[in-house]
Amino acid sequence: MAGAAIPAATRRGISGISAPTTPGRSAEADGPRRPGARRRSAWLRAIRRGAPPRPRTGRAAGPSMRDSDGRGLAPSGIPCHAAAAMSENDPERLIRGRYGVAPEAPLPFTPLPEVPAGLAALLDRRVTRRYAPDPVPEPLLQTLLAGAQSAPSKSDLQQYAIVVLRDAARIARIADWITGMDWIKQAPVFLLFCGDVRRGRRLCAHHGRAHANDNVDTFLNATADAALALGFAVMAAEALGLGTCPISYVRNHVEKIGPLCALPEGVFPVAGLTLGFPAGARNWLSPRLPQPVVVHRERYDDSGLEAALPAYDAARPPAKPRYPEIHGPRPEGCAWSENAARQLAVPERFGLRTWLKSRGLSLD
Ligand SMILES: Cc1cc2nc3c(=O)[nH]c(=O)nc-3n(C[C@H](O)[C@H](O)[C@H](O)COP(=O)(O)O)c2cc1C
Repeated sequence: MAGAAIPAATRRGISGISAPTTPGRSAEADGPRRPGARRRSAWLRAIRRGAPPRPRTGRAAGPSMRDSDGRGLAPSGIPCHAAAAMSENDPERLIRGRYGVAPEAPLPFTPLPEVPAGLAALLDRRVTRRYAPDPVPEPLLQTLLAGAQSAPSKSDLQQYAIVVLRDAARIARIADWITGMDWIKQAPVFLLFCGDVRRGRRLCAHHGRAHANDNVDTFLNATADAALALGFAVMAAEALGLGTCPISYVRNHVEKIGPLCALPEGVFPVAGLTLGFPAGARNWLSPRLPQPVVVHRERYDDSGLEAALPAYDAARPPAKPRYPEIHGPRPEGCAWSENAARQLAVPERFGLRTWLKSRGLSLD
């Protein structure tokens, strides 16, 4: 696949992460300065010094002043081409979307007056469950994987592995085992993120030392490393114009996926990740729980959970009921909290511990 043409969607994605340009002005004409460098130095430094966020000025106005190269600056001191792109990344719109806040309702907090493109992409991210058939060129994939490997790792031990599946027949086998997730088969690439305790054991053997950390803490560290790598892969994909969907259901079929991917003892799947060029409309933006439910200041305090649920449930359209065969049907759909309770009331993957132990993973 090396050298394959990069589809238009990706070219758009790539240009989306380089400096936005004013119409009629090429990126080259704006020079090689890193996108966002100026705006970070201007307003982020001020905020770090403790300045209150500037009042929002609405859409960036036309050039009101010039920088030393004669380029237009918006009133904020931000180059106009960058400011224009940032107005598309309106922080208020992004925060409303992320928390499902209606346009007429007050914002849950005052966001920054502007957000860099990378953060805007993160605030607007959602899973992709429809893929175009275009292959993912190898240079794109390898660069994305470098992004995944840029995740932090516990003690720099990097106790994870990523198995790349490109063979459509092998991806289809996983989809057929899981069933009901057509997007797995559609995606041209399937990544399996695994915790990897084996490599550490081998490093110990290589240096003539006994591995003394076969325990639940190592299992947790390896799982966290794999999950972080998956998260970084998701964001790298977004930056490249690709879409992803994590797949926990690989853990329902470990006894088949293990051999399919030749996973040795000490290596266990954490989650899969479908990867490809998005097709059709984007998935809906799934609003997150309000910050006071998830974020605790100085001390954990979840006393506001029940009070927060009605508004959060109302911010999301009713969803397909989980486990209708066990909890009963719900033709009108289920609110988020009820669906969470329905799901968590049914044991899932309780055989996993046995499989992990059989694969040489100690959870003691
Ligand atoms: C570890 C993990 C496993 C997931 N497993 C699946 C899965 O098996 N199938 C699926 O369609 N989505 C899966 N998802 C995606 C979630 O359903 C999705 O992230 C969630 O609904 C929120 O939507 P959003 O990512 O668009 O904000 C998984 C996500 C994570 C983080």
